[in-house]
Amino acid sequence: MPLRGLLLFFVLFYSSTGSGTPTTTVVGVNYGRRGNNIQSPYHTIRLLKNLNVSYVKIYDADSETLTLLSKTNIHVSVMVPNQLISNIASSQSVANQWVRENVLAYYPDTRIRFILVGNEVLSFNATSSDIRIWRDLVPAMQKIKKSLAAKNIRNIKIGTPLAMDIMESTFPPSNGKFRANSLTDVLLPMLHFLNSTKSYFFLDVYPYYAWAANPSGVGLDYALFEGGNGSLYTDPATGLNYTNLLDQMLDSVVYAMSTLGYKDVKLAIAETGWPHSGGLEEPGANMYNAATYNRNLVKKMTAQSPKGTPARPGAVIPTFIFSLYDENRKSGPGTERHWGLFHPTNGNPIYDLDITGVRTDYGRALTRPTNNGAYKGKAWCVVARGASEAELGSALESACRQVEGMCEALRPGRECYEPLSVTSHADYAFSSYWARMRNVTSANCYFNGLAVETTTDPSHGSCKVPSVTL
Ligand SMILES: *[C@@H]1O[C@H](CO)[C@@H](O)[C@H](O)[C@H]1NC(C)=O
Ligand SMILES: *[C@@H]1O[C@H](CO)[C@@H](O)[C@H](O)[C@H]1NC(C)=O
Ligand SMILES: *[C@@H]1O[C@H](CO)[C@@H](O)[C@H](O)[C@H]1NC(C)=O
Ligand SMILES: *[C@@H]1O[C@H](CO)[C@@H](O)[C@H](O)[C@H]1NC(C)=O
Ligand SMILES: *[C@@H]1O[C@H](CO)[C@@H](O)[C@H](O)[C@H]1NC(C)=O
Repeated sequence: MPLRGLLLFFVLFYSSTGSGTPTTTVVGVNYGRRGNNIQSPYHTIRLLKNLNVSYVKIYDADSETLTLLSKTNIHVSVMVPNQLISNIASSQSVANQWVRENVLAYYPDTRIRFILVGNEVLSFNATSSDIRIWRDLVPAMQKIKKSLAAKNIRNIKIGTPLAMDIMESTFPPSNGKFRANSLTDVLLPMLHFLNSTKSYFFLDVYPYYAWAANPSGVGLDYALFEGGNGSLYTDPATGLNYTNLLDQMLDSVVYAMSTLGYKDVKLAIAETGWPHSGGLEEPGANMYNAATYNRNLVKKMTAQSPKGTPARPGAVIPTFIFSLYDENRKSGPGTERHWGLFHPTNGNPIYDLDITGVRTDYGRALTRPTNNGAYKGKAWCVVARGASEAELGSALESACRQVEGMCEALRPGRECYEPLSVTSHADYAFSSYWARMRNVTSANCYFNGLAVETTTDPSHGSCKVPSVTL
């Protein structure tokens, strides 16, 4: 490592803490709050302290959270919401104000180290306002940088997390290319900015999705870093040997950047992880795989001598695991609500993981999974455990209202009227809606987090509850 790189590394990651203990780990956690059952920021920061976590990334610049993080050893990544990007891009004084209110108000007592401008901005391009945000993204990053420079703040890096859908090809890694079209118009100035400010290209990178899209083509062991030490895939163009899918995905971005002339921009992982549970049709979402992935990830990223990737051996890659908590208000398939390391209500671990990488012996073995293949057969969508009765009532009514005649069987005297309980009626309505709409609007079994899929038929007596065939 050249001396300058080494110094930067020390400044960023060995910045001495209040107690004088060096912080060596570069692994942190994403603290998302899209749930209605998540314990308070106070309890959350206490949890992070107890875990000795040294980095946390939040999806906003929440005042209570940033205040609670003050005078802790935890380094923080804050985020500019997507909808503020264009305003900030349009005016230096708006940028200055945002920085004043959301960064300077807490810094340096709160160790803000990254400001991420927007979230997966280039994954949205459906509307003209999305396209406008694309165009405004880099100018907004530049203005935020300028606001910091005016205050002589040099240890906060500016970036923006992008998802792997910015890639047109990722395989073999040496063939990595960004999506053509207007993307290049954004990416070229962005790479210039990241390179000249020595910041990071932040990626949301999920081997889980790459594997789940093609479980028979990609080895599960390869996705879970369990392939052993040998070469499992050799890139024919470079001869580089890959032992895991994450490295392969990261290097595809390295090569895509090189193709545009930026071969030295560093990578950071803004999100990665593995869901511990999910829908029946989603393979491999289980505790065993989630624990295996995250334990191996932590081991790799906290190794005494950094491993980097085959194209970037020895590189330090700051990494944020997704996610601290399960978030029950995320729509989409079941996995969306099950990326957590901790139960949102009380902070108890969902499975054992030492994010700091100090402890590597996890004692009791996890039960081997049975759902590494997608389930094939009948399924129903029923009320989730712990769902609030009050919310169920309105979800049930709204499901029934949406499809004319769907809930006839729930009327007094009809076959599903008894038992007269909101849970039993909601089981019927949720399953019916899912069965009716899954093929039409690709509806999920979600209902604001009140519902889960099941293979257990909730039909009773003469009440036949509609099912879907997966
Ligand atoms: C956190 O660090 C302290 C002091 O080094 C240690 O005693 C404690 O066991 C650590 N906690 C965890 C959860 O690793
Ligand atoms: C928007 O994204 C889709 C794929 O995500 C892509 O096919 C399309 O070309 C993009 N449109 C523009 C204007 O970039
Ligand atoms: C990237 O930054 C380095 C160091 O500042 C510089 O030497 C190099 O020319 C830059 N690369 C590009 C493509 O601008
Ligand atoms: C990759 O592995 C093969 C077979 O083990 C070995 O011959 C080759 O030298 C390795 N390539 C690199 C770049 O290490
Ligand atoms: C829904 O789609 C699946 C396959 O995608 C098909 O097998 C099934 O027949 C469809 N069901 C209805 C009711 O259209």
